[in-house]
Amino acid sequence: MSRPQFSQRVERLPRYPAAPGYAWKGDIARLASNESPDPPLPEVLEAAQAALADLNRYPDPTHGRLREALADRYGVPVERIAIGNGGSDLLIAAGDALLDPGAEVMYAWPSFSMYPHIGQAAGATEVRVPLKDDVIDLDAMLAEITAATQLIVVCNPNNPTSTALPLRDIAAFLEQVPGHVWVIIDEAYCEYSLLDDPDASLELLPRHPNLALLRTFSKVYGLCGLRVGFMLCGSGELCQALYAVRQPFAVNAVAQAAAVEALRHQDAVAQRVERAIAARLQLDEGLRRLGIEPLESHANFSWFRVGDGEQERAIVDELARRGVLVRSGTALGEPGYLRVTYGQPHENERFLSELATLL
Ligand SMILES: Cc1ncc(COP(=O)(O)O)c(C=O)c1O
Repeated sequence: MSRPQFSQRVERLPRYPAAPGYAWKGDIARLASNESPDPPLPEVLEAAQAALADLNRYPDPTHGRLREALADRYGVPVERIAIGNGGSDLLIAAGDALLDPGAEVMYAWPSFSMYPHIGQAAGATEVRVPLKDDVIDLDAMLAEITAATQLIVVCNPNNPTSTALPLRDIAAFLEQVPGHVWVIIDEAYCEYSLLDDPDASLELLPRHPNLALLRTFSKVYGLCGLRVGFMLCGSGELCQALYAVRQPFAVNAVAQAAAVEALRHQDAVAQRVERAIAARLQLDEGLRRLGIEPLESHANFSWFRVGDGEQERAIVDELARRGVLVRSGTALGEPGYLRVTYGQPHENERFLSELATLL
């Protein structure tokens, strides 16, 4: 008997390596998903609550208030700001909008686990450029550009390695990328970097119409449960293309209202960054006491080797049994490594003491 077939697209698509434990209840230290450990601000909860009263209405498909608030905060014109259902939505939209079958999409590896999805969904050819000394190798990326290259994604700071490139390197790279190539700099973690002011990269936008900076409310703004990300684009046309490929109501009304309110509290953002940097010191010093040297982190997580792939997977499983969730390097493309998100001080301590008993 004949059977209906799946599209070639769905056959090609990689499956996202979801971390375990989302549904677990109880006293769990959630250090696996690079979330903020701080609860939402009361004012943000109030704004979300107020938006609930209008749930019989569709959300604004133009994201008008949020784009205006972002334009005020980042000094980028409204028509160059795209909002997405998380930054991930905008990455997938960029693949739809910018890649043809047979085109080349390039990114460093290991890097954010969504990137393989972008090219494979579009039927594009993926070019993965290995890191050099744990850092993204921009020269090697430049050397790989061909006439078929349509999109390059650079994650800075890089997930999962936590390492970052200085802005001057990114600026020099952009000067050398040919005009036919789109470039997304994924800055999901830029606020946590000690290398440059997170606003400094905005200066690149007027010089490069082929550039987009990806940011998110999921990390330092602490709203990953609501799903809001934004792209600051070098051209209005890019922004229009990102809107053209998606359903109109992808970002819900509660999320839009909460994000507008979150932007008003830049002092809270600064405090979260300070707490993350204190947690970085706590975790990294604790790891060094165990004889482990983490990479120099510019994000809200640390990345370090604990042994071979088998040892790493055993440690991840045993930590999970003890209620401490961390991310396995195997799932992220680098067996033997762990990625540990900074939690509250007592959670970081709990992770360190459980790890000490396992080593
Ligand atoms: C490098 C990077 N980019 C983008 C995102 C997208 O986050 P979201 O879809 O929650 O905005 C993440 C999330 O972990 C990330 O690590």
